[in-house]
Amino acid sequence: MATPTPLPPRTQVPRHVAIIMDGNGRWARRRGWNRVRGHRAGIDSVRAVVREARAAGVRYLTLFAFSSENWGRPQREIAALMGLLRRFLRVEVPDLKRNGVRVRAIGELRRLPPRALEAVRWAEDETREGRDLDLILALSYGGRDEILHAVRSALAEGVRPEELDEARFRGFLYAPDVPDPDLLIRTSGEMRISNFLLWQLAYTELYVTPTLWPEFREAQFREALADYARRERRFGLTSEQLAGGGGG
Ligand code: IPE
Ligand code: IPE
Ligand code: MG
Repeated sequence: MATPTPLPPRTQVPRHVAIIMDGNGRWARRRGWNRVRGHRAGIDSVRAVVREARAAGVRYLTLFAFSSENWGRPQREIAALMGLLRRFLRVEVPDLKRNGVRVRAIGELRRLPPRALEAVRWAEDETREGRDLDLILALSYGGRDEILHAVRSALAEGVRPEELDEARFRGFLYAPDVPDPDLLIRTSGEMRISNFLLWQLAYTELYVTPTLWPEFREAQFREALADYARRERRFGLTSEQLAGGGGG
């Protein structure tokens, strides 16, 4: 066995990690199983990554659990996913609560089946005192939806065009207090954003791994954190400026 990747020093740990948890279906199909079995296995990865994120000192973890486009999947698969969501919350919330994790949800939550929505609200309520890690579930979430929702809210509030700058706009997003992701992880090798956090990802570091979500566990998460720790984020500036040299 290779020695496990150590956690980076706290100063190099991303404050906000966002994950596109992809590849459950392929993982199951490769074994000749139903796609839903892949989603079920993916829950164990969620549990592992939440634990590891907390241990590493990540402050916000956003998980893409169900996209606005995923409503187009077969009814059976949607129902199974909603059932898994409810079961995950019911089983995990006591532990999350004990560990200082606050569960939040972003997305067009009104579209969720009533019992799923109820479970989400219950989890948010139960864990609202959590201070160590915000676990943000993107459910029925689309980046374009979120931007449209923000624009509509601004118009409804009567914000004048000249008042609407980036800071003001941010206030109309689903979770305005949450800083932009520092690191975006996508599993299963797909090199696309799939309508996730379009506004917030402007300067996020991207990490794509061929590992399928059900096989993405503690070790793979640590590897992603280690990769992030080696990056130089420049935000459009020069390396010299960032080193404090002024850049001349
Ligand atoms: C990600 O796995 C989970 C959801 C989108 C809900 P997929 O179900 O997309 O798995 P693949 O991409 O088909 O393998
Ligand atoms: C993105 O995965 C959405 C989630 C992980 C919930 P998809 O499997 O739906 O994305 P595409 O279809 O590959 O773009
Ligand atoms: Mg997929």
